[in-house]
Amino acid sequence: MSAALEALDVTRTYQMEGVAVSALRGVSLQIEQGEFAAILGPSGSGKSTLMHLLGCLDRPTTGVLRVGGREVAELSDSELAELRNNTIGFVFQSFHLLARTSARENVGLPLVYQGVPRAERRRRATEALAAVGLSHRLDHRPSQLSGGEQQRVAIARALVGDPQVVLADEPTGNLDTRTGNEVMELLERLNAERGVAVILVTHEPEVADRARRQIHIRDGLIERDSGAGT
Ligand SMILES: Nc1ncnc2c1ncn2[C@@H]1O[C@H](COP(=O)(O)OP(=O)(O)O)[C@@H](O)[C@H]1O
Ligand SMILES: [Mg+2]
Repeated sequence: MSAALEALDVTRTYQMEGVAVSALRGVSLQIEQGEFAAILGPSGSGKSTLMHLLGCLDRPTTGVLRVGGREVAELSDSELAELRNNTIGFVFQSFHLLARTSARENVGLPLVYQGVPRAERRRRATEALAAVGLSHRLDHRPSQLSGGEQQRVAIARALVGDPQVVLADEPTGNLDTRTGNEVMELLERLNAERGVAVILVTHEPEVADRARRQIHIRDGLIERDSGAGT
């Protein structure tokens, strides 16, 4: 079976007012099915850039990126979006939920883009919210939920498309220690029970230590990688 995600000497250079900013300078990385890995590194080292590339939200400047064995450079934008929808779920530090929208509709939103009919969206969103322990909060809006609950809604939204990989960029960064711990336990359970690969970015050593693999990034390069653990 091919790796879930594979980067070969990937770079990403941003153009800013005519100046080139090298955010990634040649990263090679393989993420296997079912892995649980943490990405660590100082602010500005390229962690979010790498997450965006691995999650197909962006394309590398040079190098090869494969998702589920398919090379992203060979896909059109719509094919890439489809691959992303079917393979990857995203969780962000600041939750990124729609404010005027219920938990269930937020969770069902990725399915709108996949053309899933309304009744089935509701059913699958309800199921995903149950999986994160929020069956009693289906009709609540984000402002009516605690931070930890909002992040659980975001995790349910990441899961609703039944992805092979969940990418979480500082998922506990806006949460207190106890709530962050609950979010980590949830990600660990999803990894153990569903075999979803989890890649998370964190600044917190206690969070990183709970992953089976630690990847350290500095100045756009992998500085140290404890290697794929299973
Ligand atoms: N859209 C962008 N345009 C220009 N520069 C960017 C952009 N996104 C990130 N950068 C720059 O790329 C580098 C890496 O950023 P980022 O991947 O966000 O780092 P991290 O997530 O590790 O803090 C930083 O120097 C940042 O300023
Ligand atoms: Mg970042």
